[in-house]
Amino acid sequence: MNKRVAVVTGGIGGLGTAICIALARAGRRVVAADLGGHPERVARFAHEVEGHDIHFAALDVSDFEACEVFVRDTEAAHGPLGILVNAAGITRDTTLRKMERAQWDAVLSVNLDSVFNLCRHAIGGMAERGFGRIVNISSVNGQTGQFGQTNYSAAKAGMHGFTMALAREVARKGVTVNSISPGYCETALVAAIPDEIRQDIVDKVPVGRLGHPDEIARTVEFLSDDAAGYITGANIPVNGGLYMAF
Ligand code: CAA
Repeated sequence: MNKRVAVVTGGIGGLGTAICIALARAGRRVVAADLGGHPERVARFAHEVEGHDIHFAALDVSDFEACEVFVRDTEAAHGPLGILVNAAGITRDTTLRKMERAQWDAVLSVNLDSVFNLCRHAIGGMAERGFGRIVNISSVNGQTGQFGQTNYSAAKAGMHGFTMALAREVARKGVTVNSISPGYCETALVAAIPDEIRQDIVDKVPVGRLGHPDEIARTVEFLSDDAAGYITGANIPVNGGLYMAF
């Protein structure tokens, strides 16, 4: 069988890079879709993933038409899309009283509209072929809410509703749709939190440390496996125990 093709949005980011490498190691051909505007970031990524079947594609995930072209071009170049990991995410943290409209719009369009933009163009082919694995990277803060993150928490919570609804629509077509809710991980996003606030958060994590991007990546690998066909509409928390619910 040909290698399954996996697209990872936010593919050159903190979690994205680890996810790309994990999927490539699992025998996937991986396309990392991310903004192309920072050549030094792209070059660093290329160096990190050297030797793996991983390809970079410049994409603004908040652009609906660009996502359509991207899915078409990716399938023409690499083959039918089997796995889609929506990992593109940004923060614009500030309390609601100070939040500008642009900070709301940016977070909602990159974190949530992007999931619609990619899934909308990928889902038809997946359903027709009878196979697909969609994994949406949400956040613990979409489950609990976080001070200073009305925009981010709303977008991340929205991903869960989207995940469950789409899971129902394609359950009979061999396509699964799941989300993962990472806790605080060793990424640039978390490094940007003021030291004192970050330390307070880490102190509340039962496991007592930040998560490693690899710990999220292995969960993506698990959910995107061919053998994971009976898990759909689920949310897997990977948060060191920061938020426990059943
Ligand atoms: N809970 C309750 N009160 C809090 C608080 C909290 N968590 N954090 C701050 N406050 C209080 C302060 O003590 C202060 O009170 P006083 O006015 O009485 O002194 C007040 O709120 C500060 O309010 P400001 O509007 O002045 O806020 P700020 O500008 O100082 O900072 C912030 C706001 C930038 C959002 C800052 O609190 C912050 O960075 N918080 C961390 C947010 C966070 O966790 N982001 C996660 C990023 S990583 C990520 O998102 C990845 C993932 O998925 C996990």
